[in-house]
Amino acid sequence: MKKSILFLGILASVQIVNAQTATPLYKSKNASIESRVNDLLKRMTLKEKIFQISQGFTGGNNNANNNSARFKDIPDGIGSLIYFSDDPVYRNDVQKHAMETSRLGIPILFGYDVIHGFRTIAPVSLGQACSFNTDLVTKADAVAAKEAKLSGLDWTFSPMIDVARDPRWGRVMEGYGEDSYTNARFAAAAVKGYQGDKLNDKYSIAACLKHYVGYGLSEGGRDYHYADVSPQSLWETYLPPYQAGIKAGAATVMSSFNDISGIPGSANYYTLTTILKDRWKFNGFVISDWGSVEQLIPQGVAATRAEAGQKALNAGVDMDMTDKVYEENLAQLIKDKKVSMTRVDDAVKRVLRVKFELGLFDQPYTTIIDSSKRYLNTNDKAIGEQLAEESIVLLKNEKNILPLKSEVKTIALIGPLAKNQEDLVGSWSAHGDPKETISILDAMQNQFGSKVKISYARGCDFEKPETSGFDEAVTAAKNADVVVLCLGEKRAWTGENTSRSTIALPSVQEKLMEAVRAAGKPVVLVLSNGRPLDISALEPKADAIVEIWQPGTAGGTPLAKVLDGKVNPSGKLSITFPRSTGQIPIYYSMRQSARPTSGLYQDIPTEPLYWFGYGLSYTTYQYGAVKLSSASIHKNQKLVATVEVENTGAMNGKETMLWYISHPAASISRPMKELKFFEKKQIDAGKKVSYQFEIDPMRDLAFPDADGKLHLEAGTYYLMAGKEKVKFELKD
Ligand code: GLC
Repeated sequence: MKKSILFLGILASVQIVNAQTATPLYKSKNASIESRVNDLLKRMTLKEKIFQISQGFTGGNNNANNNSARFKDIPDGIGSLIYFSDDPVYRNDVQKHAMETSRLGIPILFGYDVIHGFRTIAPVSLGQACSFNTDLVTKADAVAAKEAKLSGLDWTFSPMIDVARDPRWGRVMEGYGEDSYTNARFAAAAVKGYQGDKLNDKYSIAACLKHYVGYGLSEGGRDYHYADVSPQSLWETYLPPYQAGIKAGAATVMSSFNDISGIPGSANYYTLTTILKDRWKFNGFVISDWGSVEQLIPQGVAATRAEAGQKALNAGVDMDMTDKVYEENLAQLIKDKKVSMTRVDDAVKRVLRVKFELGLFDQPYTTIIDSSKRYLNTNDKAIGEQLAEESIVLLKNEKNILPLKSEVKTIALIGPLAKNQEDLVGSWSAHGDPKETISILDAMQNQFGSKVKISYARGCDFEKPETSGFDEAVTAAKNADVVVLCLGEKRAWTGENTSRSTIALPSVQEKLMEAVRAAGKPVVLVLSNGRPLDISALEPKADAIVEIWQPGTAGGTPLAKVLDGKVNPSGKLSITFPRSTGQIPIYYSMRQSARPTSGLYQDIPTEPLYWFGYGLSYTTYQYGAVKLSSASIHKNQKLVATVEVENTGAMNGKETMLWYISHPAASISRPMKELKFFEKKQIDAGKKVSYQFEIDPMRDLAFPDADGKLHLEAGTYYLMAGKEKVKFELKD
C-alpha cells in the first residue's frame, strides 16, 4: 500500500513538473491550428486580447539609433503593425522584443500597402487589367510578395478590387476597372500571387481584399464621401469581386471608409457579418481602414469613440487600424455589456488563426539575405516589363503609322513625360525608387540607338500655364520625321484623396499638342495616366495614340519596343474613356434606356470616346462565326461556344477573347451586355486559334436579387464575341 502511494506521489509530482515545463499546446508545431488558437485564447487576459486586435505602425525610419524609442512607441502585445520600413533587420528586432517581453510570446503581424509591387514596380492595377492576362498578374504579385517577405512583411493591404466607374475618383488607378467580372478574375489572380499555395510558404504573404464594399461609388468621385449603393448593385456589381477573392482563399478583408447607403462600410453588420462571415463562411479577419472606426463619428453614426468602437466591433470589424479606439475603449464596453466577450474572442481567434496559418509562431523572423539580392532581380524585372508591355493599349493608328518605319530617321520626343521617371511609377508604389525607372527618352535612345536621332524638348510643364518651351518643341517637330508627344498625369493626381473635377488634361498640354501639330509632321500621342482621360481635344490632332498607363520600373522600355514594332500591343481597355467629364458615369454594362435613340446629350455624341474592351493591334484578326453546341439548353445543361480567330496580318500577336452575355427580357432590367469570360491567346501570323467558353447557366446566366438570391430565368439570351452575336434559348 505504502509503495503504491509513494509511486502515485512521485507520478503526480512528475506530472506537475512536466506540466510546468511542458510546451503549451499553442506552441506545438504538430498540433492543429484550431487547437493552437483555442489553447492560446484561453490563456490570454482581456488586455492581451484587446491589444491583439489592434494595429499600430512603425518604421517611418529605420535609424538604428532610435529603435529603442520605437519600441517605446509600440504598445506591448500589439497584434499588428503597419511597417513603413523595408529593413528586415529592424523588423526582426521589433519582433524579438515583442516575443521576449510579451507574456505569451505572440508574434506581431507586419503589414503594408504593396499594391503593384514592393521595389520592382509593376504597372498600376488599372493598367494591369488591360492585359487581361491573369497568369501574368499572378506572377507579378508573387514577385511583390517575395520582395515584401524578404523585407519583413507578412501581409499586404492588396488587392484593391473596388469596381470604379467615376474616373474623377483618383483611386480608380488602384483597382481593375469598371467591370465586376474583370475585378473578380484579377482578385483571384492577385490572391494566388500573394498567398501562393500555402500561407506559410517561403514567400507567401497574406492578401487583403479592399475596400469592402462599394468604395468606388463615392459620390461625385469625391474620395471618402457618401456612397449610395443600392442592394441590387451591391450584389450584382460590387460584391462579386470579393466573393471571388474569398473563394481564392484571401486571408483578410479591409472594411471601407465609405457609407453604404447610410451605414458605413466599417459599421455594416449586413456586409461584414451576414454576408462575409455567415453566408460566405469567411474565417479570416476584417481590418478597418486607417481610422475608419473613429471616422464613424463624422459619418454621423457614432457620437463618441467608444460608440464607434462598439459599432465597428459588433458589425464585424475584427482589427482596428491605428486610431486606438479598441485599445482605449473595449475594456469598458465589455464591462458595460455593450460588446460581448464572445465577439471579442471571435475577433481574436480570427487574427490568431491567420498568424498560425502564416507560420508566424513557428518562424516569427524574416530570413535575412543581402539587400543586393532582395530586389530588382532580372527575372522579376522581366515579369514587370512583360506586364507593362501587355498593359499598353493602342487607341489609334491612322494609316498604320505605327510601328515606326525604317524611313524615320529623326524623332522629336516632346512633353512633360518624355524625360520623366517619377511619374511613370504611379501612385501607391511602395518602395519603388523612381531613379530605377527608365525614362521614355532613355528607353527610346536604348531602343532606336544609332539608327534614329532622338531630339528631345520638354515643351511644357504638367500644368503651369507657361508656353515659353513651345518654340523649342515646335522647332524639334519641324526638324523631325515624326513627333512622339508624351502627355498625361503626375502620379500624385491619382491614388488616395486625389479627386479631380475634370478628367481633361491641363490646357497647357492641349495647347502644346496644337503647337506641335501645326509643325505639320505626324504626331504619335503617348499617354501616361492613372485614370481615363478626356482627350477629345487631343484625339483629332493625333495620328496615333498609345496608352501606357503608369508602367512602373520598366518605364519607357515597353513603349519603345511597341513604337519600334518589337512588341505588338495587345491591351484592351479595362475602363471606358468618356468623351467628357460630363458623360460620367458611362460604362459598357449600362442598362438599356427606355428610349435608346432619345434622351441623348444635345451638345456631344452620346457614345464615349473608347468603350471598355477597346484596343487595336499591329496585326489584323478575322473572327469566325460563333458556333454553339446547341441552339437551346435546359437550366441543368451546359452550352459550349467556340469561335475561331485567324491572324490575317503579318505580325504575331496576342488576342483576348471577351465573351459577353445579354438577356434582353428578364424579370428585372439587365445590363445591355455583361462580360462573363475572357481568355488571351497567342496567334501567330497566318494562323488560326480556337477559343471556347463553356456556359454554365447558374454561373453565367443567373443574376442576384437585392438580397443575393440567384435567379435563373428561362428565355432568350445572346452571346457576343468580338462583333459576332448569336442567340440561344434557355428552357426550364
Ligand atoms: C489608407 C487606405 C488603405 C490603406 C491604409 C493603410 O487610408 O485607404 O487603402 O491600405 O490606409 O495604408
